[in-house]
Amino acid sequence: MAHAHTDTQEPTRRDFLYIATGAVTAVGVGAAVWPFIDQMNPDASVQALASIEVDISSVEVGQSLTVMWRGKPVFIRHRTDTEIEEADAVALDELPDPLARNANLPADDPASDANRAHGQGDSRPEWLLMVGICTHLGCVPLGEQGDYDGWFCPCHGSHYDTAGRIRKGPAPRNLDIPVYEFVSDTRIRVG
Ligand code: FES
Repeated sequence: MAHAHTDTQEPTRRDFLYIATGAVTAVGVGAAVWPFIDQMNPDASVQALASIEVDISSVEVGQSLTVMWRGKPVFIRHRTDTEIEEADAVALDELPDPLARNANLPADDPASDANRAHGQGDSRPEWLLMVGICTHLGCVPLGEQGDYDGWFCPCHGSHYDTAGRIRKGPAPRNLDIPVYEFVSDTRIRVG
């Protein structure tokens, strides 16, 4: 499907261009365009912006989707087994930021892979959701890049691993995990 893709070639900006186009033309409109519609509607309530539901049925293994939520990009990655295994194999004492930074879990939970890929209620390791804003100075990192096969922020060279944990560079914290929940096997509510 067009709104899922492998984000290997282009910066994430391409996702925004596509989603914005979808909102204007109403072609293939899915949950991903809701926030844009809401933001263009002066009557949109705060509640309408507080959470979004995203259809992930077309996001194949190895693909990512970026949606906008509360004015921020959220990366939704359907991870490969290799990505999960790589992240799971990392000793926690190797991590510059040892905390999960997961709004679904207690603030002091460690940054294990299972705690990173964890929503409300359950952990589905194949799905990783993160706010796509570098914790250094706020650039949008690029997917499937960097020394740890995860995300790379070209602004000042921060490398994140396949669980979105900072591994090298100036960023002080792991990428934030927003509140999210699977409302079915193919739909995620963010927020
Ligand atoms: S903003 Fe990402 S490395 Fe500086």
